[in-house]
This record gives sequence, C-alpha cells and structure tokens, in this order.
Amino acid sequence: MTLLLTTTAANLFIITLLITTVTSQSYSNHTVGDSAGWLFNSDTNTTSTDYTKWASTQVFNLGDYLIFNTTTNQTVVQTYNETTYNSCDTEDALDTDTFIYQGENVFGQPLVIQVPLTKEGTNYFFSDANDGLQCSQNMKFEIDVKHGIGLPSYLNQPPPPPYVEPPQSSDSNPTPSSETSSNSGFRDSGNVPLGVLIVTSVLGFLLLLIP
Ligand SMILES: *[C@@H]1O[C@H](CO)[C@@H](O)[C@H](O)[C@H]1NC(C)=O
Ligand SMILES: *[C@@H]1O[C@H](CO)[C@@H](O)[C@H](O)[C@H]1NC(C)=O
Ligand SMILES: *[C@@H]1O[C@H](CO)[C@@H](O)[C@H](O)[C@H]1NC(C)=O
Ligand SMILES: *[C@@H]1O[C@H](CO)[C@@H](O)[C@H](O)[C@H]1NC(C)=O
Ligand SMILES: *[C@@H]1O[C@H](CO)[C@@H](O)[C@H](O)[C@H]1NC(C)=O
Repeated sequence: MTLLLTTTAANLFIITLLITTVTSQSYSNHTVGDSAGWLFNSDTNTTSTDYTKWASTQVFNLGDYLIFNTTTNQTVVQTYNETTYNSCDTEDALDTDTFIYQGENVFGQPLVIQVPLTKEGTNYFFSDANDGLQCSQNMKFEIDVKHGIGLPSYLNQPPPPPYVEPPQSSDSNPTPSSETSSNSGFRDSGNVPLGVLIVTSVLGFLLLLIP
C-alpha cells in the first residue's frame, strides 16, 4: 500500500479510471432484436429483424440474460447441440442440452422470456413454432458466451428449466405447456469473488504502469 501512497497524481488519476472501468463490469441484459423484439410475421414468413446481425453487435458473458420480447406465436429453444439447432426441431432433442420456453396455448399474447446464460461457449437459439418454419426462415441465431466475471452465485447451480414436450409435427397448434419463468435471479450484493477480482486486476495494472 506504500506503493499507492507514493504514486503521482497522474498515476492516481489512471488508477481511478481503471477502478471505475473494472467495477462497472457486471452482468448485462440483452433484449433480443432490440426494439424489433422476437417476432415472426406469418403472413410474409419473415422475421422482424436479422437476429444473426443483432447478435454480432453484442458481447455475451456468463450471468447475462437474454430477454425475448415476444408473443405466444413464437417459442424460444435454447440448445447447446448443433444438430438440434440445424434441424430446427426439438423432437429428438435431449433434455440435458435443450430447453424450451413458451407461453400459453393462446395465440398472439404478449410474452417476455428471460433466459440466463449459464454455459460458456456456443449457445444456439431458435423458435420451433409453425413446425420449424420460423426457424428455417431465420428465426434463429447463435452466440458465443464468454467467461466475463463468471457465474453469479444465484446462477451457480441453475436448475434446468423443465423440459416441455415439443408439439407433434402433425398438429398445427402448440401444445399447452408450463411457462418457464423460474429466472428470478437478482444481482448479488457483496460478491466476494468479484471484489477479489477487482483488487487483483487493479494491482496487476499497477505493476504494469508504475516503474
Ligand atoms: C416489448 O414490446 C412491446 C410491444 O412491442 C413494447 O411496448 C415494449 O416497449 C418492448 N419492451 C422492450 C424492453 O423492448
Ligand atoms: C399468430 O398466430 C395465429 C395463428 O397462427 C395467426 O392467426 C396470427 O395472425 C398470428 N399473429 C401474428 C402477429 O403473426
Ligand atoms: C409461408 O410458408 C408457408 C409454409 O411453407 C406457405 O404455405 C406460405 O405460402 C408462405 N407464405 C408466404 C407469403 O411466402
Ligand atoms: C445432439 O442431439 C442429438 C439428437 O437430436 C443426439 O443424437 C446427439 O447425441 C446430441 N449430440 C451431443 C453431442 O450430445
Ligand atoms: C436483468 O434481468 C434479470 C432477469 O429478469 C433481472 O433480475 C435483473 O434485474 C435485470 N438486470 C438489469 C440490470 O436490468
């Protein structure tokens, strides 16, 4: 700490900047498609925006949430399985790597689906509504989830959302399903690992900056 006390004003200024930068790193919520939401127009068979393009504008970290501003006309399938993603179909999906979020069996009802990012690496998302038509018309995107500051304690052992049987392909109506709204996570106050990380990072930068 004597090191801190003997630094010049310029160094203190830089340190303050660094602390501000490091502490401002926290968990983010990403509204999918921004104001366009997560919507498919079944008259024109088009998505309300380009989700791959949207995803490329974002940086995703563990502990972030994807917020799908949508209606019951779309579903949200989260999978870690590329085969499932490419098939646009959840029929053969494993309940260990694929999670389906959807609303009630009533069309056009507003729905907000919050999906926490709890696994690093490639995560795939698509809507399996309309027997896969939406997905095949680009109602899908993939993201790369970075480590960031790591999972918050409230998501450390995430209970996987209950698996919902996918609609039968012969049936044009979605099956009734339990709504998965178990994501009641809130940001931790007094996150000790984060504090340790900040101190470590700042000290690391100090060593680099101060001759
Ligand atoms: C979600 O969509 C509704 C209806 O389009 C809109 O009023 C609302 O502002 C949107 N919310 C967000 C967070 O974008
Ligand atoms: C929602 O789905 C129903 C049934 O397929 C359809 O009649 C309605 O037009 C859809 N709404 C939108 C906004 O696409
Ligand atoms: C949308 O796709 C459905 C199913 O493939 C098809 O029947 C319909 O004609 C398409 N509509 C348009 C406007 O392309
Ligand atoms: C991906 O899912 C398919 C079923 O759609 C399954 O057969 C395959 O084993 C899964 N792949 C991995 C790596 O788990
Ligand atoms: C992000 O979304 C989660 C889940 O809805 C919520 O608990 C949290 O307060 C949100 N955080 C911010 C910064 O909006």
